[in-house]
Amino acid sequence: MNDATAVTLGPLKLRNPVLAASGTYGSGIEAVPFADLSRVGGVVSKSVTTEPRRGNKTPRIFEVEAGMLNSIGLMNPGAAEFEREVLPEMLRLPCARILNVAGESIEDFAVLTRRFGSTEGLDAIELNVSCPNVSGGLDFGTRAPELKTLVAACRAATAKPLIVKLTPNVTDITELARAAIEGGADILSLVNTYQGLAVDWRRRRPELGSPSGMGGLSGPAIKPLALAAVQRVWRALRCPIIGIGGISSATDVLEFLVAGASAVQVGTANFADPAALVRIADELSQLQRAESLPPLWELTGTLEVPRP
Ligand SMILES: Cc1cc2nc3c(=O)[nH]c(=O)nc-3n(C[C@H](O)[C@H](O)[C@H](O)COP(=O)(O)O)c2cc1C
Repeated sequence: MNDATAVTLGPLKLRNPVLAASGTYGSGIEAVPFADLSRVGGVVSKSVTTEPRRGNKTPRIFEVEAGMLNSIGLMNPGAAEFEREVLPEMLRLPCARILNVAGESIEDFAVLTRRFGSTEGLDAIELNVSCPNVSGGLDFGTRAPELKTLVAACRAATAKPLIVKLTPNVTDITELARAAIEGGADILSLVNTYQGLAVDWRRRRPELGSPSGMGGLSGPAIKPLALAAVQRVWRALRCPIIGIGGISSATDVLEFLVAGASAVQVGTANFADPAALVRIADELSQLQRAESLPPLWELTGTLEVPRP
């Protein structure tokens, strides 16, 4: 590993801080013809659930100013087919491989974490807790006590690095972040998409086909919001953070590191260019040399807010 670009997040070591975000890069295999993944930090898989999911009614994607709304609805083949057809290929990727799991009950999350929790070649498990809890109604990621119980159940099911990906659609994200760390998370991913709505006023209809008509907003529009979430959690907890939201350049990555992240995930930018991840990682080390920056890990949380 190159010491200047390598980063460490608790028990997880990465060659550089640039990862692909869940749901925007398949399992990484699809990108191999276009992108040299030996130059990036890693890939996070699309969310896998216990059973196959067909996803929401179309349209599921709608482009908006400075970003996009999606309502995919966690479409995936389910754990058994994923394990048989996709995982073996994913484990051959020349970068860190992180499995993202989602569920409708605490038991679902624990079962999935146990199922994949000792798979050789998987570097970490990321829990997507922005999913509706079928017994409780609200998303798991919006209630601290439930979140802590969920994370503790998964912590007991694996010795691998455990990442909890939080939804930003809450009043105080630091409360949820604290609950996840208390439950046993090693790392927090901040953030998932922001709830949004696109309206076709002539038809008096939402543009997206989800049951509520709502979708998740991602892309450059959310970058300042995500930076604020990272900074708030960093100040409150000083824990390992993966920053996510609107990242499309090396300078975006550096902004997230300075705000408190130790690594980042790139999502929406992959749709415009499947090699964006590699470009960003390459630009990052070029910029590091050109500006004589210290090793990247030293930049984490160095933001100084001048006192009035
Ligand atoms: C089309 C699409 C599908 C997504 N699917 C998932 C998913 O399956 N699991 C998950 O945890 N996040 C999912 N996300 C959220 C992204 O991983 C990421 O948190 C979000 O898009 C913000 O990053 P970005 O602004 O770089 O896109 C999805 C995002 C998009 C745009």
